[in-house]
Amino acid sequence: MGASPESIIFANPCKPASHLRYAKEKRIMTSTVDTEYEIYKIAKHYPESNLVIRFLCEAKDAQCPLGDKFGCNAEADAASLMLLAKSLSLSVTGISFHVGSGCNDFPAYNRAISIAKNLFKFGEMIGYNMKILDIGGGFPGADDDKFATIAEIVNTSLEKYFPDENVEIISEPGRFFVASAYTLVCKIHAKRDVRSEKKADLRMYYINDGVYGSFNCILYDHQKVTAEHFLEENDNLQKFKTLIWGPSCDALDKITDDAYLPNLSCGDLIAFPNMGAYTVPIASPFNGFLVPKTLYFKAN
Ligand SMILES: Cc1ncc(COP(=O)(O)O)c(C=O)c1O
Repeated sequence: MGASPESIIFANPCKPASHLRYAKEKRIMTSTVDTEYEIYKIAKHYPESNLVIRFLCEAKDAQCPLGDKFGCNAEADAASLMLLAKSLSLSVTGISFHVGSGCNDFPAYNRAISIAKNLFKFGEMIGYNMKILDIGGGFPGADDDKFATIAEIVNTSLEKYFPDENVEIISEPGRFFVASAYTLVCKIHAKRDVRSEKKADLRMYYINDGVYGSFNCILYDHQKVTAEHFLEENDNLQKFKTLIWGPSCDALDKITDDAYLPNLSCGDLIAFPNMGAYTVPIASPFNGFLVPKTLYFKAN
């Protein structure tokens, strides 16, 4: 995509050796590590790398926690990883963390930045030129107020703990960039009305994408999706409680059971806004239903 190798950080802390060899071939110099095994692996395959130590500082509430899988213990392990790197003549240039994707515990950023400061000090004490602080991801994709709150906490913490302008502060926003860039538009191909004396009537629609496709975000990313009548011009239409199914044979393939939509027909379209994060890249063509095509629209 035209990015220069120096501006790329290889941020997967558990890398196949073949990927490391490829990174070396492309001169990607900076790599995240969080175990001693990874440090030995880098010493073997790409000892010229600059290492960034990723520690764990988990948000108490995140849509998709990452802490069971990645990040070393800041108190028990981070210093010994730096010492190990030193003993193997590797270079450590920074510290990173990821508080969890879809973070809802905003002070987690402040906690993490203060811990990072201590690890920076330790790195400098043992002779490293510490110059990168990577604050990871976790930012919302479609909520400007939440983002502004996080930005204020992050900026205040950085001013307090990292006033030195020579430290390069980077982040790895994923959801933030892409969630609101995509609206998923699906077509209704089948319909069922559920009538019962005790319960209110329920309308069911079957659409051409489901949890094995773009809506895997419901299972894997714990997303709550919003259904809207696409191109609806008359907002005064009566709305009904609606359940929406995906197209596959599986009853797990349920998209939502609390949508409110007008009485729609086969062939009508339903739109789901903010479907850009953790959706299409994970989609499979299970049951022969193809993953959706992406079309680009330019707003007037
Ligand atoms: C290493 C790393 N960086 C960045 C991201 C993006 O995170 P988010 O979408 O929360 O911004 C992820 C997501 O899993 C990740 O694993």
